[in-house]
Amino acid sequence: MNAVFDPQALSSFLEEGKKEIEAAGSSQELEAVRSKYFGSQGLFSLASKSIGALQKGERKEAGEFFGKCKKEFDSAFLKRKERVEEEEEKAKLEGEKVDMTLPFTRFPMGSLHPVTLASRQIESFFTSLGWSLGEGPEVEHAWYNFDALNFPPDHPARQMQDTFYMLPEESRLVLRTQTSSTQVREMLSKPLPLYAASIGRVFRSDPLDAFHSPVFHQCEGLAVDRGLSVSDLKGVLGSLASRLFKEAEIRLRPSYFPFTEPSFEMDMLLGGKGGKWVELAGAGMVHPNVLKSAGIDPEKYTGFAFGVGIERVAMLKYGIKDMHDLVEGDERFSRQFAMGE
Ligand code: DAH
Repeated sequence: MNAVFDPQALSSFLEEGKKEIEAAGSSQELEAVRSKYFGSQGLFSLASKSIGALQKGERKEAGEFFGKCKKEFDSAFLKRKERVEEEEEKAKLEGEKVDMTLPFTRFPMGSLHPVTLASRQIESFFTSLGWSLGEGPEVEHAWYNFDALNFPPDHPARQMQDTFYMLPEESRLVLRTQTSSTQVREMLSKPLPLYAASIGRVFRSDPLDAFHSPVFHQCEGLAVDRGLSVSDLKGVLGSLASRLFKEAEIRLRPSYFPFTEPSFEMDMLLGGKGGKWVELAGAGMVHPNVLKSAGIDPEKYTGFAFGVGIERVAMLKYGIKDMHDLVEGDERFSRQFAMGE
């Protein structure tokens, strides 16, 4: 553009500019149109400068004309800008839209271990009978694990090949070998009559093989009341078996434990008639010496107790053949039993 002010040229810039404004599809494109006309080398900017070169008398009219054109440009520009920004905002919101009705991405849930499943079923059985749940320490004093349970000092279970001893030896601390260690704790800490079950880990220095593990779980049951007898014991064990295995037929065989007299092994007929007898628990009437350890008069009170191996329950219940599967902790293994009962 030459330095001469040309109203006709300005009019045609305005018309062209308005067309370009209408055609601009984004803020960016609009901005490009603006700088084409009003940037430092813009067509309007140059026209504005050329007004300065006019004769004094011509400037006013030229200035007014320029102002009119600029106003028209600006208003077309602002109108378009508003529209474009509205559309841009709409497109942005559209892009951010979340469909709340779509199914969410599920997190993998993990599965409860069969030992946990079996423990929970046993616990719920006892709480449904109104028994309390107890627990004791895994690092236990030998007094609770052996002495108070009427184990003679030379009993083989106390030996190092069966029991993990803590150092120093004088501490007389062991990793408890049985949840029977909770019996005297329960009797000392809870009022009579007492009906309590306690589930926990026990430890024995056995190597891991298909049937044994140096760490496993037991459930201990203990009832102390006036007039309890073997038939009460048998009743509770029968209900437990039917709750866990839907099998009601059980039998008691004579056995020996230092802390019960008489002592039994409890078997259950698995698979009903024509099935096979499997051993499920050790049990018996609490030995008078054990009651005495807890300051209970055996002339007034009697008790029964039993111990169930949780891994054994889980293996029988879920048809697990090898202890390794239970201790390895592969989640894919647990997942097979995740539905519980
Ligand atoms: N504590 C025994 C064990 O680990 C199991 C047991 C047997 C518990 C007889 C009892 C019981 O309470 O009366 O082999």
